[in-house]
Amino acid sequence: MLRVAVLLSGRGSNLQALIDACGAPDFPAEIIHVISNNPDAVGLLRAQDAGIGTSVLNHREYETREAFDTEVTRVLEDANAELVCLAGFMRILTEGFVSHWTDRLLNIHPSLLPSFKGLDAQQQALDAGVKLAGCSVHFVRPGVDEGPIIAQAAVPVLDDDDAKALSARILALEHRLYPRVVRLIAEGRVTVVDERVTISDSQAPTGALSNPSRD
Ligand code: GAR
Repeated sequence: MLRVAVLLSGRGSNLQALIDACGAPDFPAEIIHVISNNPDAVGLLRAQDAGIGTSVLNHREYETREAFDTEVTRVLEDANAELVCLAGFMRILTEGFVSHWTDRLLNIHPSLLPSFKGLDAQQQALDAGVKLAGCSVHFVRPGVDEGPIIAQAAVPVLDDDDAKALSARILALEHRLYPRVVRLIAEGRVTVVDERVTISDSQAPTGALSNPSRD
């Protein structure tokens, strides 16, 4: 069983999707600890309900980013975490932290990266007028929402979408994609070479998703 820790700041619906996936008897990973920088994060309650240990590391109580990140690493290593999943963790991590966890640190972002990094990705997609949007799971590198992409999933943007409607459509995909990626990593099928990811024994979809779908 791959030992997975989750870092979050808020609602924790992606944590919930991972918890639910780990509940399946054949799932090759387990969530062993959850860290939040926000003491009021709903995600902490989700972890506690599932019997998962939690730590609150309030970034306001640390003098520097380095001091905060060092403490996060200490907690992760105490818990023997092998993989760290950012799931709505809204803090920029230092280069030192990111390189310590190279290829063991994942992020999920609600856009088809490298488009629309940072905050309000769904509104950025609407403002740009794209016809397909989606989510990405990637290995983390220094730089916000940067790093080798492991998997992406796409949805159409509809004419009457607002950020809320588009976010909900993307979020439903996030909840499916993140557990799938954790499974692939736990199965040892994900490799990074020259900052590009390959997945052994995987199948690309045969059909294309286009929007509009017909003229
Ligand atoms: C998710 O949509 C996730 O992709 C996004 O925050 C949300 C967290 O929701 N992450 C980012 O924007 C990272 N740049 P959740 O707390 O319900 O999982």
